[in-house]
Amino acid sequence: MTDAKGLGRNAANYGDRDFALYLRRSFAKSMGYSREALDRPVVGIADTGSDLNNCHRTAPELIEAVKRGVLMAGGLPLAFPTISLCEPFLSPCSMHYRNLMALDTEAMIAAQPMDAVVLVGGCDKTVPAQLMAAASAGVPAVQLVVGPMSANRFQGERLAACTDCRRYWARYRAGEVSQARIEEVEGSLATTAGTCGVMGTASTMACIAATLGFMPLEAASIPATHADRLRAAEEAGAQAVRLIHKPVPPAALITEKSVENALRVLLALGGSTNALVHLAAIAGRCGVAVDYRRLNALSDSTPVLVDLKPTGEGYMEDFHAAGGMRALLHEIRDLLHLDCADLDGRSLAERIGDGPAFVDRAVIKPRGAPVSPVGGLVALFGTLAPEGAILKRSAATPALFEHEARCVVFDGLEDLARRIDDEALEVTPSDILILKGAGPLSAAGMPEAGYLPIPKKLARQGVKDMVRMSDCRMSGTAFGTVVLHIAPEAVAGGPLALVETGDRVRLSVAERRLDLLVDEATLAARRARWSPPPAPARGWDALVRREVLQAPQGADLRFLLPGGGA
Ligand code: FES
Repeated sequence: MTDAKGLGRNAANYGDRDFALYLRRSFAKSMGYSREALDRPVVGIADTGSDLNNCHRTAPELIEAVKRGVLMAGGLPLAFPTISLCEPFLSPCSMHYRNLMALDTEAMIAAQPMDAVVLVGGCDKTVPAQLMAAASAGVPAVQLVVGPMSANRFQGERLAACTDCRRYWARYRAGEVSQARIEEVEGSLATTAGTCGVMGTASTMACIAATLGFMPLEAASIPATHADRLRAAEEAGAQAVRLIHKPVPPAALITEKSVENALRVLLALGGSTNALVHLAAIAGRCGVAVDYRRLNALSDSTPVLVDLKPTGEGYMEDFHAAGGMRALLHEIRDLLHLDCADLDGRSLAERIGDGPAFVDRAVIKPRGAPVSPVGGLVALFGTLAPEGAILKRSAATPALFEHEARCVVFDGLEDLARRIDDEALEVTPSDILILKGAGPLSAAGMPEAGYLPIPKKLARQGVKDMVRMSDCRMSGTAFGTVVLHIAPEAVAGGPLALVETGDRVRLSVAERRLDLLVDEATLAARRARWSPPPAPARGWDALVRREVLQAPQGADLRFLLPGGGA
């Protein structure tokens, strides 16, 4: 190892490092750089622009602005491509590839010559993948997000992906919306660049990244098309150069205290359940665990203060205009570890200051009049979920919080698709729908399929919500009484693997319990007959099956944890 900087970092060792650097410079000069430029400190820019990522449509102009910031501060900006992940364009699902993006990004940060890096992300899995990568690569990193899309005005209402997509689709399934109308709405749901316009996973992760200190607080919510978004990009470039002169390794920002702050924010936002898995993965890279029992304690003492879809009314642009993260953090400052530092070494107390001059209380509620007095998420434990499961109570129907019923089980996504709308399916509104075989180890890759559709014949009767359970995830933009991330998952041989239609299951939010009411002898007999599905033979799928951890550990690859997960 050498302490070389800039273009001299990570020079190949052929036995003559001076020649390796000479060779590198001469090749770099073929791109037209002067020697003066090549002697500057280098800021890498992870470019996730892609024709298969609509959310990142503005990546080219953001990168141009980052470069401007780097150049103005005296650095040399060098952008490089990485894997880009966009929710609707990936099969079996984007989660299946989050760790691949993290692996790719980490390798490229570590292998290429850069003294700091700006991570341009946004869509759901990209920010966690980039922060996981940065934590492991150890190179100072600034997170820049593309920002949320703006809501579209449509015939007297506002629409933005993707809560409104689900709302309209549910009404279409129930026969309340015509074919012509649903096609018209299709072109009106996502009409600008940027990430989903509600407090879904992308927005939640942006707020968490800002809380951890990887970007300024206001940068979490600036709309994708606002000029301030470009100024935030310019500042990200300048910040990266400051980091070169005063390096802060990413892991220094990921501590027990800062992760707890992030959990508080997740709860106060009524944020996405997915963020819990991602935060566990980011924290896990630094040896910090997210404890579900601690989550419950935090949830019981953290009010939901932000009134945004999918659980409330507003859109991300409203959150930004209402005062954004500074306003929220100011409101819950007594619950936070205020000594946590950001990339500039500023404490959270300094970053929050006196809060913004204006706060729109219709969107960011005061502590005295919260959206909910307790946090949006709860962890459940019991005989069906020995290692835990998650319920987003802020998106659920309170009348279903205490519910014991017969269950109707679907064994994988194909079985679900085949039978859910079958008129002959024996199901009543009080039954519990269970999907198994869709967890992190499954071929499905833990998709956002936990929001099981209400069977058509019940939807037509006006049924809007039922208790649904699975080992997979739910979109951060979805809503309903949906128990997720059941661990251990079915493919790992958890009790979920043994559930059969007709069994009785009990959900108790008050007791934080999730129990399978089947006697031990019956379960033992079922277990004796059970075997896991065959593992994929090769490639990424085989590696996932061999190495992926369960949801409470962030569903990361075991060998990427500190010490190789030993
Ligand atoms: Fe990219 Fe929703 S599809 S954030």
